[in-house]
Amino acid sequence: GEHDVVVVGSANADLVVQVERHPAPGETVLGSQPAVHPGGKGANQAVAAARLGARVALLGRVGADGHGRLLRESLERDGVDLGHLRDTAAASGIAMIAVGPRGDNSIIVAPGANARLTEGDVLDAAPLLRSAPVVSLQLEIPLPAVLAAARLARRAVLNLSPAVAVPDELLALCDPLVVNEHEAALLLGAPGEPERQARELLARGPRSVVITLGADGAVVAEDGVVQAVPSPRVAAVDTTGAGDAFTGALAWRLAAGEPLTEAAAFAARVGAAAVRRPGAQDSYPTLAEVEEL
Ligand code: RIB
Ligand code: NA
Repeated sequence: GEHDVVVVGSANADLVVQVERHPAPGETVLGSQPAVHPGGKGANQAVAAARLGARVALLGRVGADGHGRLLRESLERDGVDLGHLRDTAAASGIAMIAVGPRGDNSIIVAPGANARLTEGDVLDAAPLLRSAPVVSLQLEIPLPAVLAAARLARRAVLNLSPAVAVPDELLALCDPLVVNEHEAALLLGAPGEPERQARELLARGPRSVVITLGADGAVVAEDGVVQAVPSPRVAAVDTTGAGDAFTGALAWRLAAGEPLTEAAAFAARVGAAAVRRPGAQDSYPTLAEVEEL
């Protein structure tokens, strides 16, 4: 096919403010350094893979507004095929992001145009999805669209983020299911030790599981075998979108035929590179930068 990875998912304008601490309900805090960055978990995965050298298409929806233009420009700069990114009569999705002093963030996402992505949009692009070795997914778009994409995919990579309840059918189609510790705990109903959580998630039906652990790398579970994958040590400036960078990079390496553990080790280095700079897409590394790490 023409693409290594087809991403079906969201694009958001990230409205980012640095805060000393996150506001409680009813409270106003002063922030600094207001910035608008291109983001959204789908667009982030697409840019992460494309910047590394993957041939990527993004299927999604943005508004015909300034944020939509910002999002298109970022994707185009990295050569993402936007033939299936539709302009929609709704505001582009936005994410309101507060970044704390240790790079810790809290995010409110208003889906806007992303919420208009339908199962029909995905079915219309069936030849595109079937032609790619990997389809990469997340959950900032309606579930019927995600499920339709997973059904059509030769191999579906799903980052179960944000953590929402999903049908068993979707879990069974994941190869791998990618979650962080927080999402794993929500899925399993309790926090736990990562190796054990990976086994428990595997028992829920996906063909393979990856739990990302930030600075501690990742844990990979496949065929009943659980393996730890390291991450290089870096100084975290902004972790926003690091999971998306990981997943986009993973999707690309899997599309190239790499075994899951090797692909996850590479993806962990991409995620580590991304936290060194502010923003999501703006912070993603080139292949040369990953190799230096
Ligand atoms: O995963 C990070 C992303 O989540 C941000 O870019 C923001 O848009 C939210 O969707
Ligand atoms: Na970053």
